Amino acid sequence: MSLRSYVSAALLLAGAALGQRSCNGSPELCGRKYSNVTFVGAHDSAFVGFLPVHNQYLPLDRQMALGVRFLQSQTRKKDGGIEMCHTSCIELDAGSFADYVKPVKTFLDANPNEVITMLVTNPESIAVEKYGDAFKAAGLDGYAFTPDSKLAMGDWPTLEQMIDSGKRLVVFMDYHSDTSKVPYILDEFAYYFETPWGWTDPAFAQCDLDRPDGASPDGRMYIVNHMLNVELDILGFKILIPDQEHAEQTNSVMSIIAQSDLCIAKYGRTPNVVLLDWVNRGDAMGSQRMLNNL
Ligand SMILES: *[C@@H]1O[C@H](CO)[C@@H](O)[C@H](O)[C@H]1NC(C)=O
Repeated sequence: MSLRSYVSAALLLAGAALGQRSCNGSPELCGRKYSNVTFVGAHDSAFVGFLPVHNQYLPLDRQMALGVRFLQSQTRKKDGGIEMCHTSCIELDAGSFADYVKPVKTFLDANPNEVITMLVTNPESIAVEKYGDAFKAAGLDGYAFTPDSKLAMGDWPTLEQMIDSGKRLVVFMDYHSDTSKVPYILDEFAYYFETPWGWTDPAFAQCDLDRPDGASPDGRMYIVNHMLNVELDILGFKILIPDQEHAEQTNSVMSIIAQSDLCIAKYGRTPNVVLLDWVNRGDAMGSQRMLNNL
């Protein structure tokens, strides 16, 4: 543990002794708007294992136990249902979406002072109602945060307000959301922009706006893709796979803060999300504390 972590832990204990509540692990975060909090996120959180098709070592429940509160995942169509597949279900099938979301319900039930965000990708335009059905079947719809209308960045509630209202699950979808059909599955790119992914340079020496193409960063929160890949050349086919060998360094405070500093210089504010592969390598949580000034 670093000195910083000891100090945070001591403050937390002191807060608990005074009956002060903490939100996502910190009293300081309670009064902060959701849009002013930085979350470390697990990229491809469903793809767990040690093979080139995987992105995480820890399953979802242990990602959350580690402190990760932003869970990104990729979904595909399979037999009329939603499946956690990496690019295709032949490459990797990590089970159904219905099963994937179950640990989130268990976590939210057991941790009443925590706000969780899920970002789901839907490249095959699966009907959004099907995702709604899965959230409902898991008992998660009751936790879902539903704004009355599209929120401007400054209009987000504080973490404490979200916790008090019981609406502690924020859900975004990259494409094909429709709030007239499922009001709590929010349009990712109406709320965020993202920096490029598919990076192979360990310096991460940029913080460009990649998606939505040509959009303005103003008024949007933002997601920094801090995942390192290695390029394999298989019989002339170049493919990118997540870099396991350098995960410790990629997810170090130094590497994450160096890229975040470029972002802060460019946009005048801290990233809202830093997505990582292999979240339990390096110091994801230490970086998150620093980015939140804790
Ligand atoms: C939160 O607000 C502070 C003060 O304006 C700012 O420095 C920081 O970058 C903001 N963080 C995020 C994630 O917006």
